Amino acid sequence: MKSKIIQILKKHDGVVSGEVLSDQLGTSRVTIWKHIQKLQVLGYEIQSTARGYHLVSSPDIPYPWEFPERTDHIHYFDQVDSTMDIARDLARKGSPQFTTVIAGRQKKGRGRLERRWISDDGGLYFTLVVRPEIPAMLGSRVNFLASLTLARIFRQLYGIDAMVKWPNDLLVGGKKIVGLLSEMEAEADMVSFINIGIGINVNNDPRSEEPNAASIMQLTGKSRSRKNLLRCFLDAIEQRLSGPFPENIIEEWKPYTATIGQRVKVQTIHSTVEGIAEDVDENGALILRCNNGEKRAVVYGDCFHQPA
Ligand code: BTN
Repeated sequence: MKSKIIQILKKHDGVVSGEVLSDQLGTSRVTIWKHIQKLQVLGYEIQSTARGYHLVSSPDIPYPWEFPERTDHIHYFDQVDSTMDIARDLARKGSPQFTTVIAGRQKKGRGRLERRWISDDGGLYFTLVVRPEIPAMLGSRVNFLASLTLARIFRQLYGIDAMVKWPNDLLVGGKKIVGLLSEMEAEADMVSFINIGIGINVNNDPRSEEPNAASIMQLTGKSRSRKNLLRCFLDAIEQRLSGPFPENIIEEWKPYTATIGQRVKVQTIHSTVEGIAEDVDENGALILRCNNGEKRAVVYGDCFHQPA
């Protein structure tokens, strides 16, 4: 009902009478009024006069009804421990591809290698469930598709030179603006689901906890719509994943990476490896030329660019 009310109010630039709303939605004017009051509590500025209702402004909160074609797939929470936990439960229960769990804040936001992901108000924190029909060993390609998609969107929407740091962090001018964490479950070696968790510093200030991070607002000088950013991302990734799994993702991703050619230190779960990042192979592993001349493929880890 909220979704329909908002859609009708958005379509009409001016006042919509309670009668029109109740006719179009097949419900009483009292019910409409109750929903309007709930929307006001949720942050919608809706003027109510004798002539009807006028939507003056909407909050920048990605409520499900803000995505009319996706409402049923979107789960929004003001605060959770981690969107990863909720998305995992939903995916295990069979939730469809493109189910999206979003949180305004996370109390226990998770980063890679058991780090925390500080998730204050103003950022965009979500986990997207995808179910590509690919072997589990190719699962990491989905993360490359997600980071590539985000890099392109940041360039288009904000004109910022977003680069990917292997494996999937997004940096602008060396500052981290996006972190990506994914979890996969497989059955008989085929992907059952991959949950892509994405934290984007949009209008928050991450610097007190992460001196090497910045937000899009800090980089561009103005606050940005999280709803619009999420919509652009979901539309773009859905388009890429709706047909057969895109070929050559790694080749498409390479022009956007800042890592190849750099001296790097990579922290893996068990050790730290140093060397020159020579390439990324077709499965997404980082090919390192180690200091002793040995070539190594690192599948997963946290990468730090070092001074040359
Ligand atoms: C990293 O850079 O270490 C990855 C950070 C991933 C953070 C996102 S925020 C949404 C989702 N929920 C989490 O708990 N983590 C991911």
